[in-house]
Amino acid sequence: MSTAPRFDRLLCGLRLVTLADAQGYGLIEDAALGFVGEHIAYAGPLSGVSAAARTQAREIECFDNALATPALVDCHTHLVFAGTRAPEFEQRLQGVSYTDIAAAGGGIRSTVRATRAADEDALFAASLPRARALLHDGCATLEIKSGYGLDVDSELRMLRVARRIGAALGISVRTTLLAAHALPPEFDGRSDAYIEHVCSEILPAAHAAGLVDAVDAFCEGIGFSPEQTRRVFAAAQALGLPVKLHADQLSDLGGAALVAEHGGLSADHIEFTSDAAVQRMAERGTVAVLLPGAFLCLRETRLPPIESLRTHGVPMAVSTDCNPGTSPLLSLRLAMNLACTLFRLTPEEALRGATLHAARALGLKDRGALRPGLRADVAIWPLQDPAELSYWLGGAGPERLYVGGAPVVG
Ligand code: NIG
Ligand code: FE
Repeated sequence: MSTAPRFDRLLCGLRLVTLADAQGYGLIEDAALGFVGEHIAYAGPLSGVSAAARTQAREIECFDNALATPALVDCHTHLVFAGTRAPEFEQRLQGVSYTDIAAAGGGIRSTVRATRAADEDALFAASLPRARALLHDGCATLEIKSGYGLDVDSELRMLRVARRIGAALGISVRTTLLAAHALPPEFDGRSDAYIEHVCSEILPAAHAAGLVDAVDAFCEGIGFSPEQTRRVFAAAQALGLPVKLHADQLSDLGGAALVAEHGGLSADHIEFTSDAAVQRMAERGTVAVLLPGAFLCLRETRLPPIESLRTHGVPMAVSTDCNPGTSPLLSLRLAMNLACTLFRLTPEEALRGATLHAARALGLKDRGALRPGLRADVAIWPLQDPAELSYWLGGAGPERLYVGGAPVVG
């Protein structure tokens, strides 16, 4: 009698990109994956699977030397919103800056108007195709932020829509409250009062409804000050919620150091982050989330401190930042390409950034590599070389995507 587990699903004919070690793809040729329930029970050479285990597996699928990677994780999106900002795209092409548009009442505020006006079903219908595009690009886990509601009802509605998307597509959705994204018009000139409202009304209501996995803020000249960000973080941490931050995107307000000081999950954007702040991130285990889509669309020139992040061993994640203003990007693989082309990541760093390190930016330790015990979230690609995941600009997604051991695509 074999003591090996009985696999619910056995996949063979694979080349595994395990990312199981600290460096390298962790490639295993002529390999197999065995799933039991929602988890990986075996990831290794096919020769390591006994004849009994092969015959007893409930389902067997054989591929023709396809590449298997951990399913992608998009750890920073604002994909729930109504309307578009295509008119502002045209304005920006005429030379009007993102900051000028925001100051004139456009930008995030224009999406807030459209999102507040949309009921829950309309918001769901508008947002679902964007999540589906990311799913078909290989993502089994999405983070989705609020931040276009900016009042109790609209913020909760956005978060409910985000959770509905996860249920509808059969994927993991992690929800982040970003009520401190912009100042809503009814609080004009009273940003401290709005922050107080976020801390005493919006955050407790969203948390009580069970809709918050993490709390984020936009710490920037056109967003909120470091002092206001501290208040949001204190309120989040009093409820036991992890924090992350839109930090140092357009200027250096010390946001990355601030979120690291709070032991936050991630500092996101970080184009203007100093070496000293990178050091703080390394000390506290705060992940650097790189968002090259926003860098591209805003035609930024100041690069995030990649070499310093490498030197200090700060894990780098890569994400789409899918949003209507600065990054209408619906492919995490394209974000990986941009991270390589614009930020000079290696394709291996980009893949780790869109899997293992992205999971870490969400506080998830159960996914992002192919190892026994981790979730069976696996993408199968019709590709030869793992670098191709960053190489192609567009093109077909995975031929199969398993989420918790079950095929969701293909
Ligand atoms: O990540 N920087 C702030 N938030 C978004 C942009 C949101 C918007 O413009 O609608 C970002 O770039
Ligand atoms: Fe963002």
